[in-house]
Amino acid sequence: MQKQGKDYIVFPLDFSSLKQAKEYVKLLDGNVGMFKIGLELFIDQGPSIIQMVKQNSDAKIFLDLKLHDISATVQRAMGRVANLGVDLVTVHCSSSMAMLERAVAGGNGKTNVLGVTLLTDNDAATVEAAGFKDEFVKDTDLLVMHRAKMAYAAGCKGVVCSGKEVQQIKTVFGKKFLAVTPGIRPAWSLLENDDQKRVTTPGQAVALGSDLIVIGRPIRDANDPVRAAQNVIKEIEAALNLS
Ligand code: C5P
Repeated sequence: MQKQGKDYIVFPLDFSSLKQAKEYVKLLDGNVGMFKIGLELFIDQGPSIIQMVKQNSDAKIFLDLKLHDISATVQRAMGRVANLGVDLVTVHCSSSMAMLERAVAGGNGKTNVLGVTLLTDNDAATVEAAGFKDEFVKDTDLLVMHRAKMAYAAGCKGVVCSGKEVQQIKTVFGKKFLAVTPGIRPAWSLLENDDQKRVTTPGQAVALGSDLIVIGRPIRDANDPVRAAQNVIKEIEAALNLS
């Protein structure tokens, strides 16, 4: 079946209570392609949060655990995640190829791995302080591409990247390698003092080649979250000429 506008939308369940998370899952079911469960909710609720999403929605599940440990431990953790019926899990690319390969192996073809290249709160100064080579300090995009290359070679399904990196990721690694983009702000939702500094609109992100856009607050905090999601869908469909 052809991918529809809603299938591009990942809604993060950034809530501290199960009640609120459930409310939004029910509300947005049918208007988003995936729900993202982050550390806050997963640590608080445990794996039962995944069952809650499955019971209330047909959307896919993205578990944003950002794993980073010795390879054997990551493989074992991924094995458990695969048994939970999760579609995507994040793993840091900042360790070794072996860790990424073992993460993919642990997913056992049931759960796909997304590589986290460079966290958005890292900049040239952080990279320098962490002891990286000058070439990476001078151009942090080089580090992003280096880590994306590791993720690709290890068999990851794709990477999390900003809107400004999508085109290069797609050009170098091809269509099938997923580019998942946070920092999305529709033109109508630009907030004062927004903590997302380098933002992309939903239309721009998908036109650049993004496969999934993570969009939280513009939908969550809208007066009518369903309508906000539907407006994002319209924008995506218009940008891609889908109907
Ligand atoms: O759209 P909004 O800014 O509310 O989305 C926030 C979500 O995006 C959070 O779940 C956060 O973890 C995730 N995220 C991000 N920036 C990144 C990677 C993920 O904001 N670089």
